[in-house]
Amino acid sequence: MSKLAAVALVSGRGSNLAALLEAIRSGRLAGLQIVAVIADRPQTGAEALARHAGIDVQVVDFRGFASRSDFDRELLSAVESRRPALLLALGFMRIFSAELVERYKHRLINIHPSLLPAFPGMHGQRQAFEYGVKLAGCTVHFVDQGLDSGPIILQAAVPVNETDDEAALAARILTEEHRILTEAVDLFVRGKLRIEGRRVRILE
Ligand code: GRF
Repeated sequence: MSKLAAVALVSGRGSNLAALLEAIRSGRLAGLQIVAVIADRPQTGAEALARHAGIDVQVVDFRGFASRSDFDRELLSAVESRRPALLLALGFMRIFSAELVERYKHRLINIHPSLLPAFPGMHGQRQAFEYGVKLAGCTVHFVDQGLDSGPIILQAAVPVNETDDEAALAARILTEEHRILTEAVDLFVRGKLRIEGRRVRILE
């Protein structure tokens, strides 16, 4: 069976990447292959994890470019050279160029640590904690031209407990990120997602 080729974009520790790799290894995500991991900075946990798994890695260090458009061009070319059917933003800390978003329309998936449309942007968990919500959570969505505003595939809610600090809440959210990311990618791979405007229908 031929597998769907995905490229993962990373900036940090790589726990979402690890969750996908484990799901592939265990057969829960048998139809997916992560053909390359692209990091926007050197020496991330995600890069180490990918190398350990024998995955092609490229670092496109945002600090090494004179302008945003130079970085964008290099990132797009790094992605395009792997010809992915699916692009995964797993804690990727850069805003995508309009060109990349257009080229990967409905094929670029992001995981965000809040119940969107609440708390888009950086540190979704911290924003939710400081706001004082009683329910926090995470969202897997397609990327559009806005900030964390694309069609929602799956969401999961978690309670905010009285004894929580930000780290405890983030850890509870992260467990759910791993679960719904894996599930959303599996649905994509199996052709079960139909986008109708802002709505993503999950087919039987
Ligand atoms: C996750 O919380 C993700 O939602 C956020 O960045 C974090 C990445 O974690 N945007 P990891 O690198 O996958 O461990």
